Amino acid sequence: MNELCLKSIYKNYKTKQVLDNISMIFKPGVYSFLGANGSGKTTLMRIILNLIKPTKGAVYWNGQPIELLGESYRDAIGYVPQHVPFYPNMKVYDFLMYIGTLKGIANHALKEKVEYWLKQVNLYDDRYQKIKNLSGGMKQRVGIAQAMLNDPQLLILDEPTAGLDPKERIRFRSLIANLSVNRIILYTTHIASDLEGLTDYVCILNNGCLEQLDEPENVLKKLAKQVWEVDILPEELIYIEEQYKVGAIEKHGGRIRVRLYHHKKPLPQAVMKEPTLEDLYLYYFSEGQST
Ligand SMILES: Nc1ncnc2c1ncn2[C@@H]1O[C@H](COP(=O)(O)OP(=O)(O)OP(=O)(O)O)[C@@H](O)[C@H]1O
Ligand SMILES: [Mg+2]
Repeated sequence: MNELCLKSIYKNYKTKQVLDNISMIFKPGVYSFLGANGSGKTTLMRIILNLIKPTKGAVYWNGQPIELLGESYRDAIGYVPQHVPFYPNMKVYDFLMYIGTLKGIANHALKEKVEYWLKQVNLYDDRYQKIKNLSGGMKQRVGIAQAMLNDPQLLILDEPTAGLDPKERIRFRSLIANLSVNRIILYTTHIASDLEGLTDYVCILNNGCLEQLDEPENVLKKLAKQVWEVDILPEELIYIEEQYKVGAIEKHGGRIRVRLYHHKKPLPQAVMKEPTLEDLYLYYFSEGQST
């Protein structure tokens, strides 16, 4: 069974610390990295891909440091970047053949693989379309197909659901579920609902620190008894926002219903609520007072 291991990864850009002592072990399964803009998700993925070097620490693939593995590590990974460098005027089929050639896949095997993955991502009927004419979701599936051509054991997707409509999101979810058998899949997102029914482990990155690494249910459990709903007068909102970490706010008749996060009952009329994925995100990434 394959194993990816991060040992005390630090990354600095000049004086700015972007990753702070990240250690993790990955075995086959789906891992999602949830973090706000700038929390270091892409940087960490690029370090795992051996595209940039950590300032300190190392990445190991099956016990070997990746910088010593060279070609054999490159053969084991597939990458769908945050912005796939497409050639807009190329047809889907030609693009995949081109990428496969760059990956060094022999021509006779390549045709078969391209057709196989076109079918897997449900683009076979569109294979002669120009990439510029595809929808966001279709382009993203081309991105996945190109990453899968070498049958990678480690698949990394950076913000794969950005710009997808709800139907495409569901399709993406089932595609990833199919791919995750015997593979390590890492994907980044800043959309909490992307975790639902898709991921085995949630990794929460906050300002370069790994705040949480657990199964989604357990991550939510840690928020239990800290989510409150309270009805207030509009003029009280400023005070509440100053005092507490505030989530969703909605109008409710002449009053305002505020969801907020605090370790104990914040106000006499506050009602405790079950944490949701949206709470999870807002708890970690909303601006405001600490809990
Ligand atoms: N080449 C670079 N030089 C200097 N600073 C960088 C460089 N690349 C990233 N950074 C900084 O490192 C921090 C983390 O960036 P990164 O792209 O990893 O975040 P992210 O979590 O992927 O964000 P997003 O959600 O916007 O994609 C940011 O503050 C960014 O400005
Ligand atoms: Mg990013």
